[in-house]
Parts: sequence; C-alpha cells; structure tokens
Amino acid sequence: MARLGHASRRCGQIFVQWGGLKGIGSTEATAGQLFHPLWLRLNDPGQITRNQQRLFEMSGVVDRRNSWEVADLKNEEQRLSVQWGDGAQSHYPWSWLAEHAAAGVATDKQLKLAVPKHLWDQSFQSTLPRMDYEALLTRSGKLQLCTYLERYGLAFVSGLGVAEGTVDKVGNYIGHVRVTNYGAIFDVKDDGAKATNLAFTNQRISAHTDNPYRDPFPGIQMLHCLSCAEEGGATLFTDGFSVAQRLKSLDSSAFHLLSSIEHPYEYRDPDAAVLLRASVPVIKLCNEEVERVTFNNRSAAPLQHEELQRYYEAWALFDRLANSMEFTVKAHLKPGELAIWSNGRVMHGREGYERGAPRHLQGAYLDSDEIQSAVRAALSEGEDLERFSIHQVE
Ligand SMILES: [Fe+2]
Repeated sequence: MARLGHASRRCGQIFVQWGGLKGIGSTEATAGQLFHPLWLRLNDPGQITRNQQRLFEMSGVVDRRNSWEVADLKNEEQRLSVQWGDGAQSHYPWSWLAEHAAAGVATDKQLKLAVPKHLWDQSFQSTLPRMDYEALLTRSGKLQLCTYLERYGLAFVSGLGVAEGTVDKVGNYIGHVRVTNYGAIFDVKDDGAKATNLAFTNQRISAHTDNPYRDPFPGIQMLHCLSCAEEGGATLFTDGFSVAQRLKSLDSSAFHLLSSIEHPYEYRDPDAAVLLRASVPVIKLCNEEVERVTFNNRSAAPLQHEELQRYYEAWALFDRLANSMEFTVKAHLKPGELAIWSNGRVMHGREGYERGAPRHLQGAYLDSDEIQSAVRAALSEGEDLERFSIHQVE
C-alpha cells in the first residue's frame, strides 16, 4: 500500500505533503503544510484523551527545548513518527495531520461548531417553534429543543399537565435548574398589594431580560402555565438580536453607545442579606457580532457617564423598537404549556390582565452551556440539524 503522506524538515519546521487521502478538503489541493515542531509536540494525539484533555503540562514542554526538537522523522505507511530530542516518540496519522493542516482555522472551526442563528420579528408568530412533551422525552426531541434554542432562542412545549413543580422536572431533564436566591422555581401570579416585584402583579411588563444583576447570568429561562387569565396576560417575546441589528442600521452612534458602555444593574433584599450587582452593555459584542442582549428597566442602577443624555436617548430608542408591534410575538400560554427561551437574546414581557384573574405561571432558570454543548456535540458527530429548521430559507 502506498504511503499516504510524506514529511521532511524545512526551515526549522516539518513540511507535510499528502497523497491519496480523500475527503480532506482544501488540503488536497495544496502543495503541503508546514507544522511547527512545538505545535506537534503540544498536540501529540497520543497524549490527549478522547475527552480532549491534555495529559501533560504545556509549560513543561515549552521550557524544555529538547522536548520539541526533532531528532528523527520516519515516514510510515499510515503515519508520521517523530523522535524528539528528549528521547520521546510521537505518532501522527496522515489523516490527523490533514485534518489539522490549517491548524488555526481548524481549531477555530471546532470552537465555533454551532447552528447559525435565525433572527426574527413579528412575522415569526405564524411559525413559532413548538413541540410536544412526549417528543421532548426522546434523544432526538431533546436535540430538537436545544437546536431551536440555539437557532431561534425560543421554543414552546405542550402537553405537560398542570402539576406544580413540573418546570423543575423539565428543567432538570434538559439541563440543571439554577437555584438562586429566589429558589429553584418561582411563582408568577398576582399578589396584589403584597407584590415585591412588578412580575407579581397584574400589570403590563415591557420587554426585558431577567437577572441582569447576576454574574453569571441565567442563560435560559422557562415559564410553565398552570392556569391563565380569560383575557389578557399574554406573554410577549422579542428577538433582542433583531432589535440590535435594526438599531445599528437606524442609528449607528446609538448602537455604539449601547454596545460600548457597561450599564450597572442591581437587586437588593436587605431581609435576606442579598445585594446582587453586575455591569454589562445592553448589546455585548464579540468580534463585532452581537453575543448577548441585556435590558431591564426595573433593575437598572444609576449610571454616571459624560454622554449620559445621548446614552439614554439610545436606550429609549432600543426600548421603543423592542416593544414595537414589528418585533413582538405574542403567546397566550394555555395550562400545560411551557415557554423556554435564551435569556441572553430573547426579551420577554407581558400584557396586563384583569385583577384577581387566576393566572399562575411557574418559572425556573438554566445555564445555557449544556444546551450549546448538546448542539455542538451533535454537529461534531456530523449530525444534520437542518432537519429542525422551521423558518423559510430565502
Ligand atoms: Fe422577567
């Protein structure tokens, strides 16, 4: 059998060329690839577990120069064998080298394994991502829900019944419910004059994200409907990423202010010795992409800034957009239904409803890393998650 690759020394590095390897993408067309010996020693596949955990200290290798000096190269049929200056040997399958040929790009791709986000506005109302609880209890159903959350940031589950505590059970099935100073779950109902928070009244609530004063903030929020008001009380959702995008095209300096100034948020409960505080911009960017939206009128602490007036004009514009018909979808949750959404992207609110109506929801928070992990793991196995797309592809 012909050798699948060939390596030689070049300019202090190892130059690898391939032959006969199929399905390795652009490297097939390239003349070859240089690998730095330190990179090869640090990423020796024989020293990395199947969980992608390194079995040695990187600084220990860096500091011992002879541990990454090449003493000898052996081109074998299926792999390249390297004898290092410290006497150790490493083996690199040609296919492994091909996969890592553009190491930086490959690593970056691995880190980014994610479904593309689909931004939405009011027109999403007719195709909201819905599924049945029975379906959610299958492996495929759970992946479907995680994909919905990653792609759309919002999903609805029906058929849950109306037993108290169900939201905790479902949350711990999807991931792990985050226990906060509010407990594992919280009740959303009209407490009238005793209410400690606007959420626990019958009043309208404008679009916001929850717990902006918490670090880390809860990435996922759930609300399970136990009983509903006959009229009003609909839960409202807005894609904060869509609003951020619109703001950028409407008024780039407002976008700049909201994405560059960190706003402080606070929650205080003196009776329980709680004082939560965190600062975060309304629009958090990563490599110029919107990574998180945080917006909460009620918990916003005083902000001191030289551009105070312009900043709050930008805030008010964002608020108007987020609460406009154009960006809002409405969900009249029925008993037994649950809404689940990305609290770092999708803003939620509520229509007012009649005082004393028997509207009762139970809520809980989850972290989003387990949702992302499920999607990433499926993608890394080559699973097609496009089958869970529900929007029209243009
Ligand atoms: Fe809320």
